[in-house]
Amino acid sequence: MSVWLVTGAGGMLAPDVLERLAADGIQAVGRGRADLDITDPESVRAAMAEHRPAVVVNCAAWTDVDGAETQEEAALAVNGTGPRVLAEACKEAGAVLLHVSTDYVFAGDGTKPYAEDAPTGPRSAYGRTKLAGEGAVLDLLPDTGHVVRTAWLYGAGGPNFVRTMIKLEAVKDTLDVVDDQRGQPTWTADLADRLVRLGQGALAGTVKAGVHHGTSSGETTWFEFTREIFRLLGADPERVRPTTSAAFVRPAPRPSYSVLGHEGWRATGIEPIRDWREALAEAFPSLVAAERGNDTPDTTRR
Ligand SMILES: NC(=O)c1ccc[n+]([C@@H]2O[C@H](COP(=O)([O-])OP(=O)(O)OC[C@H]3O[C@@H](n4cnc5c(N)ncnc54)[C@H](OP(=O)(O)O)[C@@H]3O)[C@@H](O)[C@H]2O)c1
Repeated sequence: MSVWLVTGAGGMLAPDVLERLAADGIQAVGRGRADLDITDPESVRAAMAEHRPAVVVNCAAWTDVDGAETQEEAALAVNGTGPRVLAEACKEAGAVLLHVSTDYVFAGDGTKPYAEDAPTGPRSAYGRTKLAGEGAVLDLLPDTGHVVRTAWLYGAGGPNFVRTMIKLEAVKDTLDVVDDQRGQPTWTADLADRLVRLGQGALAGTVKAGVHHGTSSGETTWFEFTREIFRLLGADPERVRPTTSAAFVRPAPRPSYSVLGHEGWRATGIEPIRDWREALAEAFPSLVAAERGNDTPDTTRR
């Protein structure tokens, strides 16, 4: 039976991938940074030799978007060199590589959803480093490398926007949230499901290597998203007020339009991820439970 190896197991997404694999009875091994440093060829080689995976899912990344602006070299080591090292090892072993990437590889100033093959043009250091990782995977593994771009990710197992809003609702009378950035909130469990199905399709020869867009259907703004979170909490959505990005200047520029197109799913025989509102409603009880249990700190990571 083929084994799957999941990197970045200490992060938000990887545990959901492992849970989804377990649900399908697929043998899988999760490795956190301490056991498997993706930037270290020796560490990667040892893990590949020990587990002999048929599929590697790379959930490891430098995700501190603002920090990358001043530490681009360090971010590039994880987001660019890391995927290259994994791709080289997968090439040698004949393994499929599913590599998770981001909407930040695009300029984010479009007006219609970015297709899988739309020109990239990152505006941030994080986006540049993630684009370097995509390039390495696609160049080294033209037949077995899969880049899965996601965005606005949330899940019970990590700090994220939804959990932050659940916490803030309890302590703030009103909240000002930006209404001039559009995107697709995406639940880690939905992305995990598509990663597993893509990997299964790759092994079965029904899914071709290349770029896939692992984001929810539909689109919204952070403001509308927060109003939906308040509704689900039973709180008055009018307490959430619209503001602009100018009021929240951050070290890394935020894309104003980060909506990804899903046409590419057609060729895979797998349907695109469902609408973001439906996913949020299903995910919500687990997010509230995780947040009220207060088991992870709030950060600005993504
Ligand atoms: N979260 C979002 O909104 C979002 C949006 C778009 C794309 N993505 C992408 O989605 C993927 C998963 O994100 P996530 O939210 O699960 O991120 P996360 O919670 O930050 O998890 C990333 C994990 O990678 C680990 N890591 C860092 N450097 C490593 C190295 N050299 N070797 C091995 N592991 C290393 C981190 O460990 P430490 O904690 O020890 O550093 C962390 O546990 C990433 O590729 C990210 O770029 C996320």
